[in-house]
Amino acid sequence: MLRIMKYPGSKTSVVEDIQRIYDQSGCNVFVDVFGGSGSVSLNIRSRNIVYNDLNRDLFTLFTVLKTHFSSFYRAANALAMDRRLFFDYYDGRIVIDAENPEIEKAFSIFFSFNSGFGGMGETYGKKDKSLYGTYRKNVSNLIKASNIIGKMKLENMDFRGLIEKYDTSETFFYVDPPYPGKNWYVHNFTEEDFMDLGRNIIAVKGKYAMNFNASDTIPVKLFGKPSFIKEEENRNGKPRETVPRKISFYTNVANVSTKISTKK
Ligand SMILES: C[S@@+](CC[C@H](N)C(=O)[O-])C[C@H]1O[C@@H](n2cnc3c(N)ncnc32)[C@H](O)[C@@H]1O
Repeated sequence: MLRIMKYPGSKTSVVEDIQRIYDQSGCNVFVDVFGGSGSVSLNIRSRNIVYNDLNRDLFTLFTVLKTHFSSFYRAANALAMDRRLFFDYYDGRIVIDAENPEIEKAFSIFFSFNSGFGGMGETYGKKDKSLYGTYRKNVSNLIKASNIIGKMKLENMDFRGLIEKYDTSETFFYVDPPYPGKNWYVHNFTEEDFMDLGRNIIAVKGKYAMNFNASDTIPVKLFGKPSFIKEEENRNGKPRETVPRKISFYTNVANVSTKISTKK
């Protein structure tokens, strides 16, 4: 799976499930309503992909990867090739001069998502070998990612306006909102947002797939029983201490629950 940053709530683990629902939907436009790190948009197979996130920084980063890739990549790769330079930038001893403030801004966003635990821009990634290794790995994915991002449509909208803008019978909305009660993002969700999301998504002309943590009670209260639940290995923590993570899916694509087996 292609990824370009560490991001809380990133969904590479369910891309194949989403792909199966999308293929079955008969739609030809894939709209990633809460795109985040882009891990779904970057890996889904569709001719028409719309990536959206309300976070302005993510939009800036994706826009620069689409429009000024060579200059951005030159800066990113210079640090990937030189460990000392990487830590000089990390510690604030050097700055990047790309002769374009937009590219410099996008680079600092990319770096902060890759050297901390993204999302809130807080840096608590340990300053060790793995930090540099993760950065190098994600830089090595950039060329492939930029080819895909180059073909995407990018939006920086609230989900309400986005759904209204793109809703047709050919549109498939992938809906991965912030988790209830968690303040991981610059923009988080209130119960009112969940209610609005429910009202908007249930009324679409197109198709949708929505996912949540199966243990969250708000989705069950608002949307009832999920279409299916996927159980997967939880990779956070030591193997013997982890409890499998359950993700609930809601979709209006017919007969999906019978087509997808729960992974143990
Ligand atoms: C669970 S994350 C999405 C993760 C994404 N699927 C991935 O794989 O990286 C939820 C995202 O919703 C965005 N968001 C929060 N409120 C929003 C809103 N009202 N409209 C659109 N996006 C919003 C956040 O910035 C965050 O990136």
